Amino acid sequence: MALPLLLLLTFTILTSSVLGYKTIIDVLSDDARFETLIVHIQRARLVPILNKLEAGTLFAPDNDAFANYHGPDITQDILLYHLVPWMVPTHDLYHHQILESSFRLDDYLKNNTGQRILIRQGPSATLGDNNNAPSFLVNDARLILPDIPVNKKTIIHAVNKVLEVPDMLAPSLESKSVDLYQMMDRVGLIHLINQHQPFTVFYSEQSILQDFNDVEQSYLLSTYGDEDLGRMLDYLVIRGDIYTDDFVGEKEYKTISGEMIVIKADKKKNGEKIITVDGQLILQGDILASNGVLHKVEDMPRTKQVAFDIRKYLYGIDATKFVSLLDRYGLGYYLAPGVTNFTVLAPENDSIDEGSLPDNLKKAWLSYHIVHGQWFPDQLHDRQLLPSEYKSPQLNDQAQRIPIGLYETRKSSIFFGNARSQNAPITINDNAIYQLSSPMNLPYDVFSSIVVDLELSSFIATLYVSGVVDKIKSASGITLFAPTNQAYKSLGLVATYLVHPTGRHDLQTTLQYHAAQTLLYEHDLRTSAYSVATLTGHDSLEVGGVNEQGMISIGTDNGTIHQTNVLMANGVIHKIDTVLVPPSVSLTHRKMLVGMESHRVLDWFEDFSWLDEGGDYILLAPTDRAFTQLDELLGSGWEQKDREAYEHLVRLHVIPKAQQLDRRTLLGGEIEDYPTLLSNRDRIMIHGGSYFAENFVQVMGQTGQGAHARVLAKGSLRKYTQVIQIDTVLIPVSRGLFGLPWYWSLALVSGLVLVGAALVGWAGYHFWQKRRRAGYQAIQDEEEERPSEPAPQDDSQQE
Ligand SMILES: *[C@@H]1O[C@H](CO)[C@@H](O)[C@H](O)[C@H]1NC(C)=O
Ligand SMILES: *[C@@H]1O[C@H](CO)[C@@H](O)[C@H](O)[C@H]1NC(C)=O
Ligand SMILES: *[C@@H]1O[C@H](CO)[C@@H](O)[C@H](O)[C@H]1NC(C)=O
Ligand SMILES: *[C@@H]1O[C@H](CO)[C@@H](O)[C@H](O)[C@H]1NC(C)=O
Repeated sequence: MALPLLLLLTFTILTSSVLGYKTIIDVLSDDARFETLIVHIQRARLVPILNKLEAGTLFAPDNDAFANYHGPDITQDILLYHLVPWMVPTHDLYHHQILESSFRLDDYLKNNTGQRILIRQGPSATLGDNNNAPSFLVNDARLILPDIPVNKKTIIHAVNKVLEVPDMLAPSLESKSVDLYQMMDRVGLIHLINQHQPFTVFYSEQSILQDFNDVEQSYLLSTYGDEDLGRMLDYLVIRGDIYTDDFVGEKEYKTISGEMIVIKADKKKNGEKIITVDGQLILQGDILASNGVLHKVEDMPRTKQVAFDIRKYLYGIDATKFVSLLDRYGLGYYLAPGVTNFTVLAPENDSIDEGSLPDNLKKAWLSYHIVHGQWFPDQLHDRQLLPSEYKSPQLNDQAQRIPIGLYETRKSSIFFGNARSQNAPITINDNAIYQLSSPMNLPYDVFSSIVVDLELSSFIATLYVSGVVDKIKSASGITLFAPTNQAYKSLGLVATYLVHPTGRHDLQTTLQYHAAQTLLYEHDLRTSAYSVATLTGHDSLEVGGVNEQGMISIGTDNGTIHQTNVLMANGVIHKIDTVLVPPSVSLTHRKMLVGMESHRVLDWFEDFSWLDEGGDYILLAPTDRAFTQLDELLGSGWEQKDREAYEHLVRLHVIPKAQQLDRRTLLGGEIEDYPTLLSNRDRIMIHGGSYFAENFVQVMGQTGQGAHARVLAKGSLRKYTQVIQIDTVLIPVSRGLFGLPWYWSLALVSGLVLVGAALVGWAGYHFWQKRRRAGYQAIQDEEEERPSEPAPQDDSQQE
């Protein structure tokens, strides 16, 4: 094998010397520095090719170069890469010259040309060497012995390193910028530039993301941002290998994103070439790759085709579930690129539990998270109600509101309904996005809205027992005034009646009266007064305006609103301190008695037709138990045994309106003692709460004071019209002692007491007579004429 080669070599040398024509092989063989090279050339069967060469330049690594070489095995391809098929003497070399080698990789470069070699001007030649001739770098190798002549068209330059064939673009890029490589890999660009086709790629040490904010970066790096990121990266790649030498003047090149990129080349005065790509300076051009070339730029050229919008920002903050729900329920148009002037309240991905809401409510619930207008924190205040984009049929297509909560102790947070936002809003295209730690709940129905409020338990209970709740639930756009438990309590016996089965209809009307058929939020009520239709259908309610204490007024009896704006699905609830009895509910004594189950007092209405069921008077109603006690004393049926006495007793329990009016003027309401229907002298003193620990009533007769009866409960039907429940049946004092018809006067009373009482009575009478003459009696004249005036015998006896 060595022999024919040797022969061939000898032959070549012989012929060339004979003809005076040398080949590369001749020259290398003569030079001991290229022994290794010759061996590789022989092994790679390159001798015939080199001998046939008409013109060329060989970059010849010397023996040391091979000794230091640790690359892949030397092949014909590698050796051919050291050969340029025309003559390039050093005086033709220049900085950034690209030479095309004889090594060709099919289609790797444009027009299937050879792999390129880059000539650079190295650090200026060591002084003394070759009269300051510029030193050159061939790729990474130094040109150590230039211009070794071969023949007229062929030359050898000795180099100190074996030239390595450039890598593919992808690994070259990876070694320059891992980040960019990884991004390009994500969007499939690495796969593209790994093809056997030529590309030109621009890269920079600056991140392509550096000009984007956190949200935009996070979007671009998410899977949702692939397309935009791809577009940005595609803008950095041009098909074909274009070297800095090819850039002349200003020219547009089509990037693989389809967009044109402007590359401009200028010559500086010193001859240096300045190249900019979309205005970004090329810092290092012509980084060779086997399938193209890389140019390092100062900063990344940026495509103009990537624009941000609400949707992309929502992806950027990971609110992906929210976005996909908006899309699924046909609300994607809120996220379209052109949308401006909206505020989006975006719940975090993890906090959304799709199962927690029925599908038919999801669209409503989603649109509840969008508000028209760009709302910044300084435009929000505590208890504000923001109208959402949920135009609810249950509110007659008005916007359901979002209550804003700002708390002193949690200054950095804003509450939107039940949901908290801890960060400043993110703005995009005049829209604002707040991130919510949880989704907002749509306002619930009436029950669920107030069930947690212990102060409203009576209201809730009455709504429930009356069956009115369904009517309230099905009404739309209502304002519900919810009386507190205290309000129910002050209603006393009226409440007892209303919750009694017989009061059901009146209870229903009363409750419906608390629901206005208009949506009135606190702000509305503060700013003006309304007379609004209620659910009763025929009663209207006065509400609105503020009193001297700054409270919103309601009703005609100085009622006020205490807590406002509890939202519900079909309206709003305000808490009030009074139960409003509508005009269409007429409360009568009889109804009260039924509610109290005071059967014995009810009998009075049967027994005495003059007792008016609905008149204006105070009725003192002893309990059935009190009557039982009396029965024990007198024997049952005592009413029938002395009808007159029975009637007197009944009359003692009635305080007519006229008397109340009179006493009011006379006593200024301090201790109120009222004449009864029995007579002016048979009075009832009512001790109110402020001076006495307990409420009680007491009979005041002309002969002294009778027993106390405790007040068990009261109910005010109207002004001057009450029922007062007492624990004892009242007995007229004036007749109880000697009025023989009274069976119970057989109660043991000693003669002394009798006389004493008579004397006291007589003295009292005279005193009274004097006062009467002095004119005090005028007011009572009317009463004296009543047919029920007590029998005169008592008076005469005492006189
Ligand atoms: C490549 O070939 C085409 C035609 O085949 C020619 O027009 C073009 O100038 C060539 N480009 C280079 C860089 O040689
Ligand atoms: C958010 O939710 C969507 C849809 O359920 C899911 O595909 C995505 O991976 C989630 N993203 C994060 C960051 O949790
Ligand atoms: C933005 O929306 C708010 C609230 O609906 C509105 O008052 C305002 O006029 C809007 N601004 C613009 C510029 O459209
Ligand atoms: C309501 O308040 C006014 C003024 O405070 C008072 O004069 C009036 O008597 C009150 N009315 C009722 C029914 O309490």
